Amino acid sequence: MTKVITYGTYDLFHEGHYRLLERAKALGDYLIVGVTTEHFDEARGKINVVDPIMKRIENVKNTGFADMIVVEDHEGQKIEDIQKYGVDIFTVGSDWVGTFDYLNSFCKVVYLDRTPNISSTKIRKDNYQVIRLGMVGTGRIAKRFVAEARYASAMEVVSAYNPFEESVEEFKKDCHDFLLSYETKDYEKFLAGIDAVYIASTHETHYDYAKRALLAGKHVLCEKPLAFTKAESEELYALAKSHHVVLMEGIKAAYCPGFQQLLNVVQSGKIGEIRDVEACFTRIAAEDSRERSDAKYGGAFLEFGGNALMPIIKILGADYESVSFDSIDNALGTDDYTKVQIRYKNAMATAKTGMAVKSEGQLVVAGTKGYVIAQSPWWLTQKFDVRYEDETKIDHYEPHFIGDGLRYEINEFLGKIRGNSTSGYKLTAGESIAITAITEEFVRRRGII
Ligand code: CTP
Repeated sequence: MTKVITYGTYDLFHEGHYRLLERAKALGDYLIVGVTTEHFDEARGKINVVDPIMKRIENVKNTGFADMIVVEDHEGQKIEDIQKYGVDIFTVGSDWVGTFDYLNSFCKVVYLDRTPNISSTKIRKDNYQVIRLGMVGTGRIAKRFVAEARYASAMEVVSAYNPFEESVEEFKKDCHDFLLSYETKDYEKFLAGIDAVYIASTHETHYDYAKRALLAGKHVLCEKPLAFTKAESEELYALAKSHHVVLMEGIKAAYCPGFQQLLNVVQSGKIGEIRDVEACFTRIAAEDSRERSDAKYGGAFLEFGGNALMPIIKILGADYESVSFDSIDNALGTDDYTKVQIRYKNAMATAKTGMAVKSEGQLVVAGTKGYVIAQSPWWLTQKFDVRYEDETKIDHYEPHFIGDGLRYEINEFLGKIRGNSTSGYKLTAGESIAITAITEEFVRRRGII
């Protein structure tokens, strides 16, 4: 009996998949089909798969060609499967020519001609209306955003708005390969040409830009801080709801797969009841940077507070008893370093932010049975450990991570716009509002507003 094996994602099952499986089966007597998990696809850079794995397996099964279906969830599995199942022929489509030649030492490798003009990627593009996105602000993060947005399917960054012409000119020089249109005067005109907006302007302008975009019926992805007061934040989420559009705060760690896994471990009871969360986010900013030269809205907390508060609110919730701040200020009167202490009934938390102080960017969640430590930079969550009293016992995790993190945030935003991920559990409106409430305490106590 000749055993054949083939692998794929089989998202939005199409004729190309059917024809591949039909010919794969014809190569032998027994066909094994490997279907990838979401996690494995994410690790391979495929972050926009639409169909859940059970549906993809069902579709493969319905062709009647597969004698056995296996789940592919890690790199190196192909060699294992070939040996485990005594496979004679490995086959895939001709888009992979050369890639799997190394399997020749285990079995015969056959590349089958790919069916022309069809792919899951194409269907995703055709099915979905392309989202035209405009950016407000043309600073550092905007540059990173356009680069990462290239990994999103059916979204195009088409324009940028910034009333400061000089800044636009600088951006154009650096990003001459991005074909964007620029608007420096009329925000409403800029909004008219887009479906969604990414707001990455200075902190104090976020609320107003977000509000006007929501009122115009545009989806909004807004950098932190979303607003300076809880009431404003609530108003924005209410507007998004009443206008049937998406509003998301851009705290990118919340959307990283590794951080989601860390939350799952924390909530699994593995480290017992949570008593302390400590998150640190520091970056020494250039002397002439906005955050170090803006005497009113500059400073470490407004820059990084959202990042450091996010895991605290996600893990311990918004029902705290008290919050206090302590800062080391500079000559301008903004904070070089701020420590936020939050007291809950049975737990406490610390958020540390610095822009002229450098510290270890780690996240530690302490429980009654052990603790989780996500090493610096925890906000990408590429690795974390669970450690216990018995120091010889360590569970080590290395979640998949690609790019610089923004692509996960962008993908979540698109998923929400398209209704694929409606629950928004990664960062709920309530959690985002709770983060704004702490920001409000800070700006009020310091007389910023
Ligand atoms: N395949 C094919 N002809 C096509 C599309 C896919 O023969 N037109 C084959 C692939 O070469 C692979 C299998 O079908 O052996 C599963 O491919 P998969 O990556 O799941 O499908 P794609 O449509 O290529 O997906 P995507 O666009 O997301 O890369």
